Formats: sequence, C-alpha cells, structure tokens
Amino acid sequence: MTKAAITGIHGYVPDYVLTNAELEQMVDTNDEWITSRTGIKERHILKGEGMGSSHMGAKAVAGLLEKTGTAPADIDLLICATTTPDYVFPCTANLICDMVGIRNVGSFDIQAACSGFIYALTIGTQFIETGKYRKVIVVGADKMSAITDYTDRTTCVLFGDGAGAVLLEPNTEGLGVIDSIIHSDGVGQNHLIQKAGGSRYPPTHETIDKRWHYVYQDGPSVFKFAVKNMADVSAEIMARNNLTGADIAWLVPHQANKRIIDATANRMGIESDRVMMNIHKYGNTTAATIPLCLHDYEAQLKKGDNLVLAAFGGGFTWGAVYVKWAY
Ligand code: ACO
Repeated sequence: MTKAAITGIHGYVPDYVLTNAELEQMVDTNDEWITSRTGIKERHILKGEGMGSSHMGAKAVAGLLEKTGTAPADIDLLICATTTPDYVFPCTANLICDMVGIRNVGSFDIQAACSGFIYALTIGTQFIETGKYRKVIVVGADKMSAITDYTDRTTCVLFGDGAGAVLLEPNTEGLGVIDSIIHSDGVGQNHLIQKAGGSRYPPTHETIDKRWHYVYQDGPSVFKFAVKNMADVSAEIMARNNLTGADIAWLVPHQANKRIIDATANRMGIESDRVMMNIHKYGNTTAATIPLCLHDYEAQLKKGDNLVLAAFGGGFTWGAVYVKWAY
C-alpha cells in the first residue's frame, strides 16, 4: 500500500528573542521558576505591524520548496494548522499559498490548538494514501504572542512564535506515516481558551476590558490531562503497532512543558537522548513545535528510523503519529 512519506522539512522562527531575564522585568517571575516548571529559557517573537502567522508559514514553506527542489506549480494541496490565523477569514493557508506562488490548488486551515500539526498531518496523509494527490504540504504556524497577555505571569512565560512545514509524497517502500490516532474531548473547553473574538463573543469594548482576547489557561488542570493523555496515546500507538521503547529511534513530543515530555518518555520506555527537545529555545509554539523539532534534528535522522510524534492541546485535543523516516 502507498504510504505518505515526509520527504522534506523546514522551519522558521523570527529574529527577536524574548529571554526569561526580560520577562522578569515585565511580570513577577524569575528564571528559576520558569526553568524548573517548564524547561523554557527563551522564545522567539514576531515583531512588526501587519505581520501574522502566514509570514512565518510562508518562510517555512519557501525554504521547504527550495530545499526539496520543488516548484510551487507542482504542489497539489496545502494544509495549515494554526490557532492564530491572520484573519477569521480568509484562512492562513490561502495567504501562505499566495505568498509563495502556489496557485489554483486546495488550501485550508485546521484548528486543533497544540495538536494541530498531528491533525493536519493525519489529514494530509489521506490524500497521498488514496492516490488523489502526489505532493501535499502540511504547515504548522502560530504567532502566540498575538494572543498572549504579557501582564499574566501564568501564561506569558510559556508561549513563542514559529512555523514549520513538511512535504508529503507517495512511498511504496513502506516508509512514511504508518499509523495515526486523533482524539478530542470538549470537557477541556473552559480550561484552555481564548474566550472572545469568535461568534459566541464577538469583540466588544467589554470583551477587551475583560481581557478575553488572550489565552486563558488553568495550568494545573491542563497539566493533569496532558500528562495522562499524551502518555496514553503514545502507549496506544506503540501497542497497536507492536512497538517497544527499544524500537523507537525518536519521540517527537509537543513542546508545552518539559515535565509532560519527561513523563511521556518515561511511560514509553525511551531514554532522554532519544527525545527531541527544543522547548528551551522556542517555548510553546503550538502547531509549530513538532515540525520545528524535526527541522532542528533533521541531520540526526536516518532512513527507516521509527518516530512517534505526540501532542496534547486545547479542546482538549490530543493524538499521535507513527512515522518511518524516509530519507
Ligand atoms: N513565575 C512565578 N510564579 C508563578 C508563575 C510565574 N511565571 N506562574 C505561576 N506562578 C505561581 C502561581 O501563582 C502559584 O503560586 P501560589 O502557589 O502562590 O498560588 C505557583 O506558581 C504554582 O502555580 P501552578 O499553576 O500550580 O504551577 P504549575 O506547576 O502547574 O506550572 C504550568 C504551571 C507550567 C502552566 C503547568 O501547569 C503546565 O505546564 N500546564 C500544562 C500546559 C499544557 O500542556 N498546555 C497544553 C498545550 S497549550 C495549547 O493547546 C495552546
């Protein structure tokens, strides 16, 4: 059966670096608290008026096209996972296509908070496996700084901006996406939410005064769900593919909190030297964390390596993808 192989990866983060030291000047926090509770040291922030997630997504896609020697005209479909679209509409995928010269193909956004890339990769895979398309780009792009309240110490230390993109192509050697699992449970809706700006609470002076356009997170509640469900779904995908920890070359976890990552790796029986980690540099970039990990570790990946990608996010949403690396 034809598999959807990742045949290229590229990532982009903006230049500006927001350090823990700078955050200490903005809110009542300190480097020791942030590092010990989350593992984050710094994050990149997109500055400049009129710059949205599409700017970073387009940088990632342009780099991907160049690296893989792919012409924009050869792309059949582009899917963008984002929780911080440039606009309510048109979607960010449409904008990215326009910026990089991809024309007249389908493009759409997926919103599954921090699990967005897992969802988008799962969807993109179907178009390759069915034979409908031969070149699909999956992007994760988020400008979390646009919805982060820099007076709220419980959330502003967590998030950063960035984007990553992969190219999916057919593979008949058994390499590529082997299996994927996606889950959601609306029980989490009030624990992690941007309350206003959608159709339930459109923007008003009142919603702005109440700071409802920013991320609200009940950290400890989300933490409990995240630890359990990211580990459970990783164990689930291993069990149904008869994998043990020893079979897995790399765990590629969503980068929300180092403690959640460590718990997941522990449950899977994977040592820390086989866990991709860049949270210290970028913080939580939502849909971009997993492709940014793949980008940073690309040189260490070998053809045939077994990778488990896993994420948990708002909704709640969570999921895992089992990939055999193709190059
Ligand atoms: N600096 C210093 N102190 C702080 C800070 C800060 N930045 N933030 C909170 N505190 C204080 C709190 O006020 C609290 O003080 P108190 O005990 O006097 O009340 C104390 O530190 C402990 O706060 P907790 O919230 O209990 O800290 P916790 O250990 O739970 O860590 C964190 C918070 C890092 C947010 C953690 O709960 C977490 O990682 N949660 C899950 C995040 C996640 O996975 N999200 C899903 C993906 S994101 C998405 O989908 C968009």
